Amino acid sequence: MIFDRVKPLDAILATAEKKGLHRSLGAFQLTMLGIGAVIGTGIFVLTSEAAQKAGPGMLLSFVVAGFVCAVAALCYSELASMVPVSGSAYTYTYAVTGELLAWMVGWALILEYAVGASAVAVGWSNHLAGLLDGIGFHLPNAIKNADALMAHAQVAFGAKPNVDLQTAMDTGGWINVPAVFVVGLVTWLLVIGTTESARVNAVLVLIKITALTAFIALTLPVLNGTHFNSPAEPFLPTGTTGMLGAAASIFFAYVGFDAVSTAAEETKNPQRNVPIGLIGSLGICTIFYLLVASGAIGAIGAQPVAGLDGSVLAPGSAEMAGRCARIVASGAMEPLVCSKEALVHVLQVINWPVIGRLVGIAAVLALPSVVLMMMFGQTRVFFTMARDGLLPEKLASVHPKFRTPHVVTVVTGIGAAIASAILPVGKLADYSNSGTLFAFFMVAVSVMVLRRTDPGRKRPFRTPGVWIIAPLAIIGCIGLYVSLPLTAILVLPGWGLIGLLIYFFYSRSRSHVGRGIIDVPEPEAYDGLAPRVPGTE
Ligand code: ALA
Repeated sequence: MIFDRVKPLDAILATAEKKGLHRSLGAFQLTMLGIGAVIGTGIFVLTSEAAQKAGPGMLLSFVVAGFVCAVAALCYSELASMVPVSGSAYTYTYAVTGELLAWMVGWALILEYAVGASAVAVGWSNHLAGLLDGIGFHLPNAIKNADALMAHAQVAFGAKPNVDLQTAMDTGGWINVPAVFVVGLVTWLLVIGTTESARVNAVLVLIKITALTAFIALTLPVLNGTHFNSPAEPFLPTGTTGMLGAAASIFFAYVGFDAVSTAAEETKNPQRNVPIGLIGSLGICTIFYLLVASGAIGAIGAQPVAGLDGSVLAPGSAEMAGRCARIVASGAMEPLVCSKEALVHVLQVINWPVIGRLVGIAAVLALPSVVLMMMFGQTRVFFTMARDGLLPEKLASVHPKFRTPHVVTVVTGIGAAIASAILPVGKLADYSNSGTLFAFFMVAVSVMVLRRTDPGRKRPFRTPGVWIIAPLAIIGCIGLYVSLPLTAILVLPGWGLIGLLIYFFYSRSRSHVGRGIIDVPEPEAYDGLAPRVPGTE
């Protein structure tokens, strides 16, 4: 039997109880934690990609993606409060559906966290390059993105080298050095044992909220209704399919709220405070996102750019990069959909260049903490998998001086740096989303299975109307997954296949549960780090 290895919930909880964490977080801190993890590259950069996919209809995309996250969040909270240990969705599935699916979830979480961290790093790089441009220091094109590399790859794989692709080859870059730099910096911080303090998190949240508020305040007075819907600028230029495609991509803007559920163990009165923290942070972000998106659309318009054959170009493609470079070279205003720093660009177009730059500085200051959050999550999942025997135990070794899982951290850092060096932000975000949607899907399944198989267990937080909410989360995850671009859809099974090979050829025979070692004690050296979430101490 391949589905027979379930890790007993009591063994997982025994490990957790040994830690006996102090319950100190209230609803307000949880909400701040959520906002700190959520607001990032999604709104600062991917707004332009969403506009390219859906036009002004991206407003609906933000609502759809926010709704799917909200129902998934309610499922997450029940499991997080019941099984408050490190490892998140991986650990829950281990207890509920067994080792094989848990392995697959853990494997998918690598996409969510490590690839997600790369996406945020590329968004950061865009803002840094813009900021340096502003002070007259122009980074050479070759080292600030990978557009030329993409164009060459597309041609090598059979694309017809048209004028747009040629422009991308001529003007684009080869490797994204600033993105590699920020991933390296965060890796180093994690190795020496930095977790973000609650105070730093609060300051960064304030900076991000101030930047978004300034954006809203300056764009709302100049809104032009015709940009939302008019014969020349239709609301849904790409129809419902385009709107759902944008929802699947902009889903990335909401990812990170799971940090709130993983802090359940450190929360006072989790039954009340965890849902307030989750729904509160998601609700606040949704309102900000809708206002920011409305401001961007109303101020300068958000119609997609078409290629040479008149079809709407795929955001992040080399053709799109080339087409945008040609529009800018012609002296026309750079459209929103072409901008690599959407919000800064809008403010510059409406004649607020200084505030625009300040918004850019806010992004440069605040985005590294989102990279840190995601890389931290990744190392924690890796660590838990290695401790369960599914990955080489060397990965779980703890640094003698810094007491951090340095090997796993460096491995994660190298992977994330390579991805951020050569891939565009939108593609990275889409790949990350495919892994996240799978993990959320499994969480929604697990919450229902556990209600049936273990109804008597104490649930500090119960998902309200679970038989409606969990199926909605499942349908939402599937709906968004199939709306992703084809390559992102294929990434999940492709990645999964590699995972299965590793599982059957390496992990299965070494698994602690499989070998009858069930109560795995938490290594003492790691106690101080394992259950902590950045921003909670
Ligand atoms: N939601 C986070 C961001 O948009 C991952 O950067």
